Amino acid sequence: MITFEHVGLRYGIGPEVLSDVSFSLAPGSFHFLTGPSGAGKSSLLSLLYLGRRPTRGRVSMFSHEIGRISRAQLSPLRQRIGVVFQDFRLMNHLSAFDNVALPLRIQGKPEKEIRNNVAELLDWAGLGDHMNALPPTLSGGQQQRIAIARAVIARPRLLLADEPTGNLDDEIGYRLMNLFEQLNRMGTTIVVATHSHVMMDRFHHARLVLEDGHLQVAEPKNWLKRKLDGVF
Ligand SMILES: Nc1ncnc2c1ncn2[C@@H]1O[C@H](COP(=O)(O)OP(=O)(O)OP(=O)(O)O)[C@@H](O)[C@H]1O
Ligand SMILES: [Mg+2]
Repeated sequence: MITFEHVGLRYGIGPEVLSDVSFSLAPGSFHFLTGPSGAGKSSLLSLLYLGRRPTRGRVSMFSHEIGRISRAQLSPLRQRIGVVFQDFRLMNHLSAFDNVALPLRIQGKPEKEIRNNVAELLDWAGLGDHMNALPPTLSGGQQQRIAIARAVIARPRLLLADEPTGNLDDEIGYRLMNLFEQLNRMGTTIVVATHSHVMMDRFHHARLVLEDGHLQVAEPKNWLKRKLDGVF
């Protein structure tokens, strides 16, 4: 579904922050994206959510070569992607409810369906009492949960999450990771950028490891044993 071949990215005339990055993501896969601060995780995600184009190399997504298609062709592709930004990027003048409803409104879903689905998801995320609150009046963890709800509400084909549990306590962090796993079982391809070894040890998924702009792919620990356990 996604292929990067020898991709490089630089900001302006600065140095390359991603160098010769090559990997593919199969439909329905789940990867952690990890590496030290400044390694390029958010930059790689910005290529995946089509916020930037690479400065060299080839990116193919959903059967399109991204360097070759027009801006107008990018926007329907973007609608298939849910993103949880590291800095949330909520609409501060819209309520929690309206932020989460946005992707469904863009898709033209009926208002009754929107009301039910958004209310149910916000309730589940522990925000039932804050549906009408504006994001700046909420805590960092509450805003992060709104950002996660907005990213998943329209069941995207690809979900990208940048440190999505960084501001959450362990229990709600695990609940939201379980939500990602559920979505993944229904077919959503997922990439979660994280520093958290606790999260990566608890949820066994392959890792994309970035160091200084260079990428390596690592299978999850014990993957062979777990595969064999599944067979025998
Ligand atoms: N908009 C930008 N303009 C110029 N340089 C940038 C920009 N965004 C990121 N960079 C640079 O690109 C490099 C990678 O940054 P990036 O934010 O992708 O790292 P990261 O792995 O997400 O770090 P963190 O774990 O701290 O979130 C850094 O050297 C950073 O200074
Ligand atoms: Mg980052």
